[in-house]
Amino acid sequence: MRTIEWEDNKLKLIDQTKLPDELEYVYCENYQEVIEAIDTMVVRGAPAIGIAAGFAMALAYLAGEDLKDVSLKIKASRPTAVNLFWAVDRVYNSDNPVNEALVMYNEDISTNLAIGKNGSKIIDDGDTILTHCNAGALACVDYGTALGVFRAAFNEGKNINVICDETRPRGQGAKLSVWEMQNEGIPVKLIPDVASGYLMSIGKIDKVVIGADRVGKGGIANKIGSLMVALAANRFNVPFYVAAPLSTFDKDNSIFDTKIEERSPDEVIYYGGCRICPKGTEVINPAFDIVPSDLITGIITEEGIIKPF
Ligand code: MRU
Repeated sequence: MRTIEWEDNKLKLIDQTKLPDELEYVYCENYQEVIEAIDTMVVRGAPAIGIAAGFAMALAYLAGEDLKDVSLKIKASRPTAVNLFWAVDRVYNSDNPVNEALVMYNEDISTNLAIGKNGSKIIDDGDTILTHCNAGALACVDYGTALGVFRAAFNEGKNINVICDETRPRGQGAKLSVWEMQNEGIPVKLIPDVASGYLMSIGKIDKVVIGADRVGKGGIANKIGSLMVALAANRFNVPFYVAAPLSTFDKDNSIFDTKIEERSPDEVIYYGGCRICPKGTEVINPAFDIVPSDLITGIITEEGIIKPF
């Protein structure tokens, strides 16, 4: 399955807002349509946003647009995932934007395969592993980072059980990660976000593996709720791993300076189309949080497993 494809100078994206019930595609013919797809989370997940942004630059180049101006507009679409900035700058600084976007596209697949291979070393036969949000094929071009680790372990014949946090408010764990695991016959169960601490306290979770939107000095940024999972894992001595490509690294900056995206109150107010609180309720809806380095056992990259810095 490819989340992103480049076909006849158009960008083809799986429409992730329609999953798991419908597998539909959105075609972007100009960079503005790619920005809209990122804004509306048709495409989401740090590596996928980066590659889509790279192709947005390629579309702008083919249309003869001012790439400096376009790059600023694309960078304003979602602030937290470092891959977006990395990809836009890389294409901007290249001689051949279309070719560079295609190189990045292919690199994303081989990087994830390497992360999977490196990460499967920490997975033991019989492990039950918790993940949060969706760091799967849908968050990348293919294969995934955290879910890539599970794919690799499962394909090596290890008997594993995956537990997906629902991941309120947008439900990426329930809608996307469960769907990906089920499609490949990898044993998977869904839990409400609030259940992971209890399950760790009674020894039902052996490891946690999540993705990251940014890896910086002092920790990582990832989907809201990651910090609570990490705190519970630390309390109950459950190893807590982050799987992330080097394109997600922002080595020179403190992770605590990360701009955390604040999303619409409607994501919290409505659940499955129904309002779940009194009219006029005020909402706080940060989309990401920061997990400090001391709560992280290791970071699984394409070059091996490293200690957080
Ligand atoms: O808001 P989203 O769905 O884009 O958030 C995605 C995540 O938090 C992922 O865990 C992260 O981008 C890593 S994906 C390999």
